[in-house]
Amino acid sequence: MSDYNRRDFLKSSAALAAFSGASVAGALLPVSLAQAQGVAAKIRVGLMLPYTGTYTQLGVAIENGFRLALAERGGKFAGRELEFFKVDDESDPPKAAENANKLVQRDKAEVIIGTVHSGVAMGIAKVVRESGTLWINPNAGADDVTGALCAPNIFRTSFSNWQTTHALGKVMKAKGHKTAVFITWKYAAGEQMMVGFKEGFEKEGGKLVKELYLPFPQVEFQALLTEIANIKPDAVVAFFAGGGAAKFLKDYQAAGLKGKIPLYGSGFLTDGVLDAVGDAAEGVETTLHYADGLNTKKDNAFRLAYVKAYKLQPDVYAVQGYDAGQLLAAGLEAVKGDMNNKAGLIKAMESAKIDSPRGQWTLSKSHNPVQDMYLRRVVGKENKVVNVAWKALADPARGCKA
Ligand code: PHB
Repeated sequence: MSDYNRRDFLKSSAALAAFSGASVAGALLPVSLAQAQGVAAKIRVGLMLPYTGTYTQLGVAIENGFRLALAERGGKFAGRELEFFKVDDESDPPKAAENANKLVQRDKAEVIIGTVHSGVAMGIAKVVRESGTLWINPNAGADDVTGALCAPNIFRTSFSNWQTTHALGKVMKAKGHKTAVFITWKYAAGEQMMVGFKEGFEKEGGKLVKELYLPFPQVEFQALLTEIANIKPDAVVAFFAGGGAAKFLKDYQAAGLKGKIPLYGSGFLTDGVLDAVGDAAEGVETTLHYADGLNTKKDNAFRLAYVKAYKLQPDVYAVQGYDAGQLLAAGLEAVKGDMNNKAGLIKAMESAKIDSPRGQWTLSKSHNPVQDMYLRRVVGKENKVVNVAWKALADPARGCKA
């Protein structure tokens, strides 16, 4: 975080705080003044998520999780109700800055919760670095968000892309795999997960022999699967998610590769898709910061509450949305609901210990979770925890000056 940005950011919060003595009824005031009245008005929350396209289910799970954290607190964070403003970002990076600006300028969102897609997250980062709006990112792993673009108002409750595949190197070395092919969509998430894997695998003496890409969100995998069959690596590592992941798993099996070349991935490959893929994912091993069968008090309670509220099993996306709610609640409780006390809010969020269904986590200096990475194996309809593949893995936060 440059001095310039920090100063600018604190200045805008100070300007808002200066209004907080206003005594006229909030309802009659323009939004910024009503906001400046502090604790009386509802907190304006912008939800920027994919509600259409390949990542639709992911967006819905995040919103469900966030709302569950709110419901558990009686519909209020630190005594304040929330008002939601929603934008469907369509996982479309070219529209990202405009969509984020709708929330910031038109809707006067005081905090943005979003999004899923790394390319869209880069657009949000640009907007909130300029406006100073508080941003909690409940999924998109774009490394830069808590790397070169890190800022006091930018928080992430999910992962960096690098984090999700880094532990696979150790796991695969232990299985005796010496060569691997990485296959993914050609955009930041896939490319950065490839780098995280390559670094981890090659440090262990493995060799990444080929990177295979197709444009997001295409699902014509056939030609690339033929290429894998010809290369015959010891193992394949993949990042796909949502509907694309389900299709990939089925195609991998249909191409006759399942059972021949072991398949690994970041856990998104098998999270939230097992109902849709029959036995195509059976035995696939992945690393991720959440798993089935953790059997902790917190996770069991979360799962029960989620199923009760939504008649659906939660997944990693639901957990990340839930933790976005928990993080915001922790910050707001520390400042007694006063969104205008941005410095206090940020300080409290930075030092929060989140009691998450995934296990307890804290934030790094760049505001990314420091968390355990689980090895999971698909057994039936579950991503069963095998062990902790890497304890308290922190993203290297390359380029962050915080
Ligand atoms: C991303 O674009 O950062 C992304 C999308 C879906 C996932 C994981 C990461 O499941």
